[in-house]
Amino acid sequence: MCGIVGAIAERNITAVLVEGLKRLEYRGYDSAGLALFTNAGILERVRRAGKVAELERALQEQPLAGRLGIAHTRWATHGAPSERNAHPHFSGTELAVVHNGIIENHEELRQRLKGLGYAFASDTDTEVIVHLIDHKLKELGDLTAALKAAVAELHGAYGLAVISARQPDRLLAARSGSPLVIGLGHGENFLASDQLALRQVTDRFMYLEEGDIAEIRRDQVLIWDQAGNPVQRETVQYHEGAEAADKGEYRHFMLKEIHEQPSVVQRTLEGRLGQQQVLVDAFGPQAAELFARVRNVQIVACGTSYHAGMVARYWLEELAGVPCQVEVASEFRYRKVVVQPDTLFVTISQSGETADTLAALRNAKAFGYLASLAICNVATSSLVRESDLCLLTNAGPEIGVASTKAFTTQLVALMLLTLALGRTRGCLNADVEAGLVRELRRLPTHLGEALAMDRTVEKVAELFAEKHHTLFLGRGAQYPVAMEGALKLKEISYIHAEAYPAGELKHGPLALVDADMPVVTVAPNNELLEKLKSNLQEVRARGGELIVFADAQAGLDNGEGTHVVHVPHVIDALAPILYTVPLQLLSYYVAVLKGTDVDQPRNLAKSVTVE
Ligand code: F6R
Repeated sequence: MCGIVGAIAERNITAVLVEGLKRLEYRGYDSAGLALFTNAGILERVRRAGKVAELERALQEQPLAGRLGIAHTRWATHGAPSERNAHPHFSGTELAVVHNGIIENHEELRQRLKGLGYAFASDTDTEVIVHLIDHKLKELGDLTAALKAAVAELHGAYGLAVISARQPDRLLAARSGSPLVIGLGHGENFLASDQLALRQVTDRFMYLEEGDIAEIRRDQVLIWDQAGNPVQRETVQYHEGAEAADKGEYRHFMLKEIHEQPSVVQRTLEGRLGQQQVLVDAFGPQAAELFARVRNVQIVACGTSYHAGMVARYWLEELAGVPCQVEVASEFRYRKVVVQPDTLFVTISQSGETADTLAALRNAKAFGYLASLAICNVATSSLVRESDLCLLTNAGPEIGVASTKAFTTQLVALMLLTLALGRTRGCLNADVEAGLVRELRRLPTHLGEALAMDRTVEKVAELFAEKHHTLFLGRGAQYPVAMEGALKLKEISYIHAEAYPAGELKHGPLALVDADMPVVTVAPNNELLEKLKSNLQEVRARGGELIVFADAQAGLDNGEGTHVVHVPHVIDALAPILYTVPLQLLSYYVAVLKGTDVDQPRNLAKSVTVE
């Protein structure tokens, strides 16, 4: 959620820190700050409420130069988004800390530290960390030893970067529940909460593991694991083009990411399809043997990824004949669950760092599931590393806070899982699989056709500019697509949107329908179409305005109060993937019309690494 950047070098690193913050700003963006060990030999900081641009402006007025520094962009948890709560936090004038995560025992530590004479200048949980390290430093006389002693007393989640004017030869890091990566340079080294922040300076990375503490010097990196033993962590060379985090010709990252869907879906499929079959080994060498034993599937995820899981339930039960349950991770993790024998535990996550999903996976390990499988976009994430099997979605970095290409690639990965499970369990007819494999190969082309609806959807968006509430309707596997459409609209345009299975309309929500409540419907040409048409009549009879995304062969046309947008034809099983595209475009254009901050909507953050 928040972003951390740090650097130790022979050159002035102010610009590196600011550029890193800009690249992380999509994660949290209510305040930003940096602290440098300046060339004058003292620690100085600049902090500002608001976006990184405010910090940049302040640095133009008050330039700072130094060769050791830490920086942070914040998404407030404890304490309002203000300058006094912005990181870095100081203890005295010689010690600075930035922190991602939440310290659960901050109140108790605060009282103890106050008793020791420390005065608090912010409302954050982070400030206890810096004073605690300072207290340990006074006792132990060495910053690394002080950090080790301090984190032993912290409960909760943290990714920490620490510098001290007393030992300016090192940048320290500690990870527990919040990711950190070291960027390796030549005669200089870097730290960040996401490698994306450091792609400007290096392509070699070392990922810290849970409980690791690192001492990063200009020419050396020392790491200790949770038990305090010195360890080596593997160096990973990152290959993808550094331009991936660029908006290119697009006005917003979200629009760019929507338009990337044909090519990223192609990447999700790459190397995973044989002539007529899904390659089960794509899930890992032991997948074939494990999948043959699966009798149930439990899917756990949050937000958009949860909606992908909801679609997959329809596929898994219908095509693979396997019972499937889907639950949001924040509920699952605190529930006493009854696990059916031979249940595959599946997590879905773009980031692979979502706190609730990770906690659910960790709890699940004690419950006796057959195995865990992560469907994830980030190869180096905690979720991937801690799961038995994984299938990467390969969507590339997603910067827009509203998830788009991550969702469609998750759906593709889940269709691959459905086919792989169906076959290995002997439930899927070979011809049906071959047909679906053929259609999956055509999917990037169909997605390109759906994107050609761009201008039409932009016009339809005008119907929403003055509205405050919207209903989204779908049936079958299109119900979760409607849920995802409603989530997109509310998060970036701030219009209240709710999704219902169309058949539920007359059990309550119909009471809300009037001329001020547009009703958006997804209507592919399937066996539920006639029932859906009756639901649409119910809306029209109450004066509700209908916006229907329909198959050209569905027999639905424009009429009074009914706006029909034709979606290219695709087989029913893949329709949830295709119908998602016009709904993404709709939210995007409504948000543009309303003038909201599309890529960084208010109150939200990418990658929710706190509970
Ligand atoms: C909505 C959105 C969120 C995420 C959710 C889970 O557009 O992006 O609802 O889907 O926070 O995040 P991941 O997939 O990273 O676990």
